[in-house]
Amino acid sequence: MNQTLNKEYWKKRYQENEIGWDAGSVTTPIKEFIDQLNDTNVKILIPGAGNAYEAEYLWKCGFKNIFVIDIVEEPLQNLKSRIPDFPDEQLILGDFFELKDSYDLILEQTFFCALNPNLREAYVKQMFSLLKPNGKLAGVLFDFPLTKQEPPFGGDYQMYLSLFNPIFAIKKFEACYNSIKPRAGKEFFILLEKL
Ligand SMILES: C[S@@+](CC[C@H](N)C(=O)[O-])C[C@H]1O[C@@H](n2cnc3c(N)ncnc32)[C@H](O)[C@@H]1O
Repeated sequence: MNQTLNKEYWKKRYQENEIGWDAGSVTTPIKEFIDQLNDTNVKILIPGAGNAYEAEYLWKCGFKNIFVIDIVEEPLQNLKSRIPDFPDEQLILGDFFELKDSYDLILEQTFFCALNPNLREAYVKQMFSLLKPNGKLAGVLFDFPLTKQEPPFGGDYQMYLSLFNPIFAIKKFEACYNSIKPRAGKEFFILLEKL
């Protein structure tokens, strides 16, 4: 890989509006997952949240115990300007790998694929340590080969399973039936429970 995927890299992507991943609103797989949650008190983290439309949707659905973290300030400010009441302490400017707290639920969307693949084991370990006992990691992972030298980095079922299976119970790991159009046929929906 030629690029270092550090804060400067992501900051530049936002400054230059090179944000092809940005769906502009909550995506259907995450929306439909949120729609079947009953308890609005659950403590939720969205890592590498970007413009965080999922956090905005959760907020509007009555979930208030939501935390978002991103390494770049601009998208966090965008969320704040869309939801001025969103508490500052729940908008975390920082590195996911340095975060210390615990959550009931963590939502994944285009964060795993944005990281250098050599961080995958560290991602799984950090997810494990950020979840409360029986906490869940839910969301989408791309289903295309890991061939590119830049994000989004792909993966396949076996590769993902070998990473998560040892420390998570696989509640759901299936072809995503309700992806947004550009991602149709290219995503898994996952629901993993901390063992
Ligand atoms: C591909 S974007 C996805 C944004 C968002 N999840 C979405 O679906 O629109 C990846 C995001 O992860 C952030 N990011 C990259 N490395 C990070 C890290 N170590 N800690 C926190 N955020 C990070 C980037 O700034 C960027 O906003």
